[in-house]
Amino acid sequence: MKVTDAKFVQGFIRMANDGWEQGWHERNGGNLTYRIKKEEIEEIRENLRTDGEWKAIGTSVPNLGGEYFLVTGSGKYFRNIILDPEETLAIVELDAAGENYRICWGLKNGGKPTSELPSHLMNHEVKMIASGGKHRVIYHAHPANVIALTFVLPLEDKVFTRELWEMATECPIVFPDGIGVVPWMVPGGRDIAVATSELMKQYNVAVWAHHGLFCSGEDFDLTFGLMHTVEKSAEILVKVYSMTGGKKRQTIQPDEFRDLAKDFKVTLPEKFLD
Ligand code: 13P
Ligand code: ZN
Repeated sequence: MKVTDAKFVQGFIRMANDGWEQGWHERNGGNLTYRIKKEEIEEIRENLRTDGEWKAIGTSVPNLGGEYFLVTGSGKYFRNIILDPEETLAIVELDAAGENYRICWGLKNGGKPTSELPSHLMNHEVKMIASGGKHRVIYHAHPANVIALTFVLPLEDKVFTRELWEMATECPIVFPDGIGVVPWMVPGGRDIAVATSELMKQYNVAVWAHHGLFCSGEDFDLTFGLMHTVEKSAEILVKVYSMTGGKKRQTIQPDEFRDLAKDFKVTLPEKFLD
């Protein structure tokens, strides 16, 4: 099968374009990666190269040895993905040790995978283990309202979690574990990858202060939906702050969150409710 005809490639392209249409991907901002299923690789294997040069990932992900990923290219614009996937995306294979990758398809005019590959792969490794293999999508975007809040709220998991839960009743159901916050760090390297993946052991969402958001999920719908829900909630909070300086006349109370959790069968950590 042609790579671009595969259902997972179509789903990836649609999600990337949806993110572009939301305004989360100025220029080359953001990146998306998908851990490809074994049967999906077999469908397209005839069109994968095996002569690519092995290159260092820049970190080590031993539990992902031999896995294949569909990834956005570094410096590529999300708005162009739908027009030319083979120029903007790549399929990479990891070596058995999970230390090197090689390009098997895509980036037809040259280039390399996203500069955030170390963060994506370390997060894939953590979430694959934590979810028993279910999580396959890692998504980084630059949504304006979340970023704006990182200049106003204290950079604490508890504050971001509670404030964003309060802004939309469905938030605690969509991200019951809460949100982690990474302080400002230089992007693209191993340090930010380590800090983010440490938080992703307990969360599916991590804020990068003054930069953007990282989300993990089982499939394209859930992961896009998570990014969308967090950013919508942040937009409401920005409006509240803009109108009142952050003073709320009324809001959802801790016991009301507990009632919600019971009815919707989610567990909300008490540390976010006291
Ligand atoms: P890339 O173009 O290398 O994916 O970088 C974009 C980005 O958002 C970095 O954090
Ligand atoms: Zn970024």
